[in-house]
Amino acid sequence: MSTTSTATTAATGQKLQLRPVSGRIGIEVVDPDLDLLLHDDTARAELHRAMLHHHVVVLRGLAPTPEQHVVLAAALGEPIVPEDHLPKHPDHPMICRFDSAVGYKADRWHTDGTFRDVIPSAAVLVMRTGPDAGGDTTWTNCCAAYEELSGGMKALVDGRKCLHDQGPDAKAVHPVVVAHPDTGRPILFVNDIFSRGIMNLPPDESSAILPFLIRHASRPDFTYRHRWTEGDVVIWDNRSTQHYALFDFEGQRVVERVHVAGGPMEAYRLGDDAPGSNAAGEGPWA
Ligand code: SIN
Repeated sequence: MSTTSTATTAATGQKLQLRPVSGRIGIEVVDPDLDLLLHDDTARAELHRAMLHHHVVVLRGLAPTPEQHVVLAAALGEPIVPEDHLPKHPDHPMICRFDSAVGYKADRWHTDGTFRDVIPSAAVLVMRTGPDAGGDTTWTNCCAAYEELSGGMKALVDGRKCLHDQGPDAKAVHPVVVAHPDTGRPILFVNDIFSRGIMNLPPDESSAILPFLIRHASRPDFTYRHRWTEGDVVIWDNRSTQHYALFDFEGQRVVERVHVAGGPMEAYRLGDDAPGSNAAGEGPWA
């Protein structure tokens, strides 16, 4: 769905007023009301729908407490405990705290957790301590990335599977193109940090195609770049997006994140009439 329509509460009877923040990805809730977002089921359902349709939702200046942060995330599904290796909030076991002062960086494109069979469906990030300038985060719309591939490239990636790897106990295989579990839309599902190779292509072809797909997914016209103010909250659909945090700043940057439980990602398949499709079983690399 496009992000070009502006919904107003007066015109639609909706509880949240939404405004696009860029052409292909992202919507902002105008004057977000924390109380409404925590307690009103209709507003919370609208927030979830906005995330599914626009991929990224910006809530400026919301400044939730840690408890409110988790309740906000519960509007999108079931908040999950962070993996053991992740740095925790000192006072809340459901929250990860990423502090640049202790070496945190996320300055490569990625979707969180693709080295697991099941990845988080959503993430809710709060800026707690921001540098004076810099430290922006950029998200890209991987549905748009898939749509903009040529028909020939869509046929080539149809049925392909990619290895995602972060270490000995952190490996998973996912389709190169997955169907969004809620909207059914195709998503180009490879990323720079975790995707290692397309397993059912000859290695030489994989090493030519995969870097192209990763580069294509982050084309600037699929992206939204958020310039943070402390207290801002950004929600993203962790199936249909990738993100990249810029480490271009002086000083400290602390963000806190809650993940929401997801489910398995199934392949999206081109129709039978697509040219050259259905090569899933090819080659000894499968
Ligand atoms: C993340 O990678 O989940 C956090 C992104 C950020 O630090 O802006």
